[in-house]
Amino acid sequence: MCGIVGYTGPRQAYPVVLKGLKRLEYRGYDSSGVALLHNGKLSVHKKKGKVADLEEEMIGKDLTAQIAIGHTRWATHGEPSDRNAHPHLSASGKLAMIHNGIIENYALIKQELSNKGYTFHSDTDTEVLLNFIEDIQQNNNCSLEEAIRIALKRVTGAYCILLVHQDNPDTIIAARKGSPLVIGIGKGEHFLASDASPFIEYTKEVVYVNDYELAIVKPDELILKNLGNEKVTPYIQQLDIELAAIEKGGYDHFMLKEIFEQPSTIYDCLRGRLDASAGTITMSGISEHIEQLKNAPRIMIIACGTSWHAGLVAEYMIEELCRIPVEVEYASEFRYRNPIVNKGDVIIAISQSGETADTIVALEKAKENGAFIFGVVNAVGSSIARISHAGAYTHAGPEIGVASTKAFTGQLAVLCMMALKIGMKKGTISEERYKKLLVELSDVPEKVASILKNADEIKTIAEKYKDANDFLFLGRGYNFPVALEGALKLKEISYIHAEGYPAAEMKHGPIALVDDTLPVVFIATKDSYHEKVVSNMQEIKARKGMIISIITDGDTVSPGLSNDYFSIPEADEIVAPILSVVPLQLLAYYVGILKGIDVDKPRNLAKSVTVE
Ligand code: F6R
Repeated sequence: MCGIVGYTGPRQAYPVVLKGLKRLEYRGYDSSGVALLHNGKLSVHKKKGKVADLEEEMIGKDLTAQIAIGHTRWATHGEPSDRNAHPHLSASGKLAMIHNGIIENYALIKQELSNKGYTFHSDTDTEVLLNFIEDIQQNNNCSLEEAIRIALKRVTGAYCILLVHQDNPDTIIAARKGSPLVIGIGKGEHFLASDASPFIEYTKEVVYVNDYELAIVKPDELILKNLGNEKVTPYIQQLDIELAAIEKGGYDHFMLKEIFEQPSTIYDCLRGRLDASAGTITMSGISEHIEQLKNAPRIMIIACGTSWHAGLVAEYMIEELCRIPVEVEYASEFRYRNPIVNKGDVIIAISQSGETADTIVALEKAKENGAFIFGVVNAVGSSIARISHAGAYTHAGPEIGVASTKAFTGQLAVLCMMALKIGMKKGTISEERYKKLLVELSDVPEKVASILKNADEIKTIAEKYKDANDFLFLGRGYNFPVALEGALKLKEISYIHAEGYPAAEMKHGPIALVDDTLPVVFIATKDSYHEKVVSNMQEIKARKGMIISIITDGDTVSPGLSNDYFSIPEADEIVAPILSVVPLQLLAYYVGILKGIDVDKPRNLAKSVTVE
């Protein structure tokens, strides 16, 4: 949530930061702004709306700057407006700050400052923290760096902040706790951002700043310190991502590009790990901890949103193939209840961004209780990847469309390999079934490609049902979480109310919604539940619901019960969700664009939920 960018160096800073904001817009897009510093003169410009609105606002202004910080916002405290947009300026007008996160005790600090006579020009927690820092600097007559350290020891909550001061013409000071910050190291220049996308064409050398660290960044110097004022040696890493990975590459939207990338992203996820002909799965994160994993008394899966749906599929996979009890938890619930976590329990954390605040806190809590954390993460080097004791990356590449698509199929592929490897080592799966599933899994990229060739059929279905007010998505077994995921995708990017349900559970309530205006999407692929699902289709048909079904090639029964259907290649039920979700992603996409919605930036959402 919220994207932040900063630049200090010999280039014109504004264009660098503006381009960076456009790339980070997926993190929040209700307002944006920049602070420019040039020859000791600080100016702040901000605008409600998307980054393009800010860009327009800036036309004709003097944009010369050696240093710039920029922010694209997802509102927490205070409505989206010009005045609540970042950067904020301190009372003296000399200090500007941008912030991603939430200062939880801001009300108390605001009261203290108000008692001293401070007035505020926005409703944000950010402006409070900024003035708190300035107040400390003035009262203690100390450096800005020291004032930031003192202030941060008093605040609770999450932050990544970037500050520039009129009197420090080449320095950006940054600090983080709970919200991401990566610094790009160029030749005589430095870039700061929420992720590396704003600067990958300039440098591939990066430093991920850790919680409770402060960075003092000048064009040719990077100093990292902890809040105790001790220097920390920056750990420089090499990025393995190309510019093309974060561009639309000829597609109308990132979401469509990412849906169509799935044959190759799933392949990349399996590549080097799964060898069907040798009958092996090579995953060092698992091999190195196999005793811990196979002897786990239970596994808990912690995630949010789409990643939580992947966790539900994994519950079915792991219980079936490894015979280990699995619980799937919403991170936001887990973190606040009093869960029983015992030493030896294994936690699988699933996250695309690796920065989801609820998931991070839940993991920290589980870790304190002695759990072993295995991360299934897409964003390399992200916080969750670093918190985990071991893990496996999904290798789906940067996911920029707000609705998660290729990350989900990557998560399923990793989780399936995990379950197979643990099950094989534990002896809870026969060699024959293991080998068959390896072949099934390695066939997935090709099968996804064949589904995508028929995307137009889904477009035709979307045209027919786009004006419905509600949708129901039903599935059983491995396809139940797929029904949840189909409903979530549609809600997110078409704003149509949709519910996912286990197909049989529908009789216990949702069936009351069924009439001849309700589209009901059945995920009715050929699996051990198929006959039961067909009975559920009969029940909907008898009540005149409009049935759209996702079926397996060669199914001769379901088409007769369906108003519309889409057929996908046959697959074992364990890998089928990786296929059956693809038409649902396409359905959501086409309904969204037919309704004129900006599917890459749907209202109220942000890609990386770094606040609780
Ligand atoms: C849905 C979506 C969200 C995320 C959720 C968790 O399309 O993108 O529901 O899945 O916010 O995010 P990660 O996986 O980054 O932890």
